[in-house]
Amino acid sequence: MKIGNKHYRSIWVNPSNPLEIQIIDQRYLPHEFIIRDLKHPDDFVHAIKDMLVRGAPLIGITAAYGLYSALLHSPAHDADANLQKAYDKLLATRPTGNNLRWALSRQLHAINEGKNLGEKIKIALENANRLADEDVKICRQIGKHGLPLIAELSKKKNGAPVNILTHCNAGWLATVDYGTATAPIYLAHDAGISVHVWVDETRPRNQGASLTAFELGKHGVPHTVVVDNAGGHLMQRGRVDMCIVGTDRTLASGDVCNKIGTYLKALAAFDNKIPFYVALPSSSIDWETKDASQIPIEERSESEVKHVQGFDGKKIVSVLVTPSHSKVSNFGFDITPARLITGLITERGICKPDRKELSLMFYE
Ligand code: MRU
Repeated sequence: MKIGNKHYRSIWVNPSNPLEIQIIDQRYLPHEFIIRDLKHPDDFVHAIKDMLVRGAPLIGITAAYGLYSALLHSPAHDADANLQKAYDKLLATRPTGNNLRWALSRQLHAINEGKNLGEKIKIALENANRLADEDVKICRQIGKHGLPLIAELSKKKNGAPVNILTHCNAGWLATVDYGTATAPIYLAHDAGISVHVWVDETRPRNQGASLTAFELGKHGVPHTVVVDNAGGHLMQRGRVDMCIVGTDRTLASGDVCNKIGTYLKALAAFDNKIPFYVALPSSSIDWETKDASQIPIEERSESEVKHVQGFDGKKIVSVLVTPSHSKVSNFGFDITPARLITGLITERGICKPDRKELSLMFYE
């Protein structure tokens, strides 16, 4: 997507040095636009763990490049052991999303076809590039399938703005380009359909307030940031026509694990008979886990809850908002049961959130 007049993806190979990967450091958006070079395998681990990059699809692609970097820095006699070490470290960075292990295992599988280190390195780069390109196509397809839902609502409203509520950032910054939840929105906006997005701020890290608002603004999509607790009120007052959110892990049963707070929005939408859609690439589908209570829910550091980061007019600062000794907890994700979800918008089309429909979509 565009920032100013320049088209960016969220991750790319350094054009002047193919041994390095470049990313936008998302910790400082929207106030500072910083590009970082990932040069060493540990840089990739740090980038994912400390959320320089985040969003399940982008985490997966970053990890795939991380395995490429591990091979680049490995002596030939130790390549397999180093690759495995890097794989394990990368896999442990963010436990909840499915895309990370999906991308790592696709990448490892491809690399294992190489007969020597030189070949493995070549395959690793080509395959990571392929996964990145594929992610862009998948998101575009999600956009195409989701667009008619917005077009229909727009028709019903005689062209008045369609109000869409989204949670966290499932935008292009969470993927390689377009985003998942935002793809139908961008396509609708580009097609001249009037849309307006309610952006949940998404405490504690404020991915909505800082990232979703940033990218929608750069693309000229009308939006309003609201506090996380405002959604229910907006829905009761008829100010939300539909919700579209992303997912970090989708079970074959149709249960969806997404950023903490998603469940409450789904409950409010259900109570108010507002369609609640989840946009997902198939890389987020966990076909094995049967019971959502088995999904590991990431618990992040206390300081993310205790402190709020913002711009003081000169620099980015962090301030304490709780009593310094209060105990806090910081669960990153929650489960929205399938019964609260109207439909899943996938790269293959829209289906009901259940095993039968999802399997038909991807196995026939
Ligand atoms: O913790 P994050 O920022 O990596 O969380 C991921 C998300 O942004 C979402 O939960 C999102 O809806 C799924 S990723 C498209």
